[in-house]
Amino acid sequence: MPQQGGAGRDIAPAKGTLGVMLVGLGAVSTTFIAGVENVRRGTALPIGSLTQMGTIRLGKRTDHRAPKIKEFLPLADLKDLAFTAWDPIPDDAYTAARKAGVLEPHHLEPIADFLKGITPLPAAFDRNYVKRLNGTHVKNAPTKRELAEELRQDIRDFKQRSGADRLVMIWAASTEVFLTPGPAHQSLAAFERAMECNDPAIAPSMLYAYAALMENVPFANGAPNLTVDIPALERLAEERRLPIGGKDFKTGQTMMKTVLAPAFKARMLGLAGWYSTNILGNRDGEVLDDPESFKTKEESKLGVLEYILQPDQYPELYGNVFHKVRINYYPPRGDNKEGWDNIDIFGWLGYPMQIKVDFLCRDSILAAPIVLDLALYFDLAQRARLSGIQEWLSFYFKSPQTAPGLYPEHDLFIQQTKLKNTLRWLKGEEQITHLGIEYYEKA
Ligand SMILES: NC(=O)c1ccc[n+]([C@@H]2O[C@H](COP(=O)([O-])OP(=O)(O)OC[C@H]3O[C@@H](n4cnc5c(N)ncnc54)[C@H](O)[C@@H]3O)[C@@H](O)[C@H]2O)c1
Repeated sequence: MPQQGGAGRDIAPAKGTLGVMLVGLGAVSTTFIAGVENVRRGTALPIGSLTQMGTIRLGKRTDHRAPKIKEFLPLADLKDLAFTAWDPIPDDAYTAARKAGVLEPHHLEPIADFLKGITPLPAAFDRNYVKRLNGTHVKNAPTKRELAEELRQDIRDFKQRSGADRLVMIWAASTEVFLTPGPAHQSLAAFERAMECNDPAIAPSMLYAYAALMENVPFANGAPNLTVDIPALERLAEERRLPIGGKDFKTGQTMMKTVLAPAFKARMLGLAGWYSTNILGNRDGEVLDDPESFKTKEESKLGVLEYILQPDQYPELYGNVFHKVRINYYPPRGDNKEGWDNIDIFGWLGYPMQIKVDFLCRDSILAAPIVLDLALYFDLAQRARLSGIQEWLSFYFKSPQTAPGLYPEHDLFIQQTKLKNTLRWLKGEEQITHLGIEYYEKA
């Protein structure tokens, strides 16, 4: 029985097929698709996915109600997912997965035919925005507006071809060069005019986001590009009652940072410096070797500490932090990134201490379950008529989009509480505040 948590939302059932449209068919996308197919065939577990493995506590601790999230909410079932992608490199999902080198043959060979059936659509791609890539499988149109119209046609065609009832689009393509919001991004009219006159302020990722929203498809951005984080597209999403969100999947080093930094702050330990460096050798690493793409990533990775530590409020502890992030392209490591953090903290009376983190991670193994959860939650959000920025999904992003005037919440566990409380609210369940006084002060 739901307790006094409000009425909940009417959520349309997850009937039929959910079409997942991926921009980019590289390491992350192929690891996600191949992973879902392995899970569907019962040959692997969806480890890292909150929607598939997570539970949610309802009511009091003494109630012992903790259903699986996927049983509590009407999420799309994995067997009902269909996939397509765009990429300027024409490799099918099998070839792309082999080249990415993330998954072992025992996860690829048994599903080779399935993966070979996923061939990318020609991309809306422009080398000016991703300098280290040379894409040949691309759309040609005289204006950006026409490119966007071709993307819209792709969406309609996929819907028909796959028989999908609903669609979601996720940007899992390369990181574009750094852009800041300008006049072309302020209103839909300005944005459309800018597309018509091929204004450089309109990056390819924005064309996909625009096309998705015009076709009533929710859009999530897994890279740090500006993309849907501009007033024109935010307003479009609100007007059309569509969920949007981003930016940049929160996977390895930043996930650890947003766990450790809140711990220091919770205990009022000071921070003198945080040096983060990475070596990785996948295509993402190669793209990020370009200073302009790296700048986009750097901004995304640097932002978190400032917001978590609030140096204005704690100048003695966090007023003088040296924070540096480096990404070094090192081919021998492939997708198996190594992220080192050297953290200089100080405690009682100012005595210094050091923490070293050496995370030997696998980038796409960490990202794939995030793509799955975002696809399922964005679809749920649309069926629950949640529109505009989905801040409750900040849990998954390095630089969460927020409503104008709000600072982003980066602490992983606050983000998790927000996510789970949103799920409770959707179903009319009581919010969990962790007060717990009722267990001690009995009337
Ligand atoms: N793996 C992680 O842990 C992680 C974390 C956060 C963000 N990301 C981001 O996710 C994205 C994908 O990462 P990846 O490792 O799969 O990279 P990848 O290089 O293997 O794949 C990206 C693909 O996008 C394609 N692409 C580039 N521009 C495109 C366009 N305009 N339209 C369609 N396709 C385009 C490329 O050809 C490439 O195949 C990157 O931007 C990366 O920074 C990854």
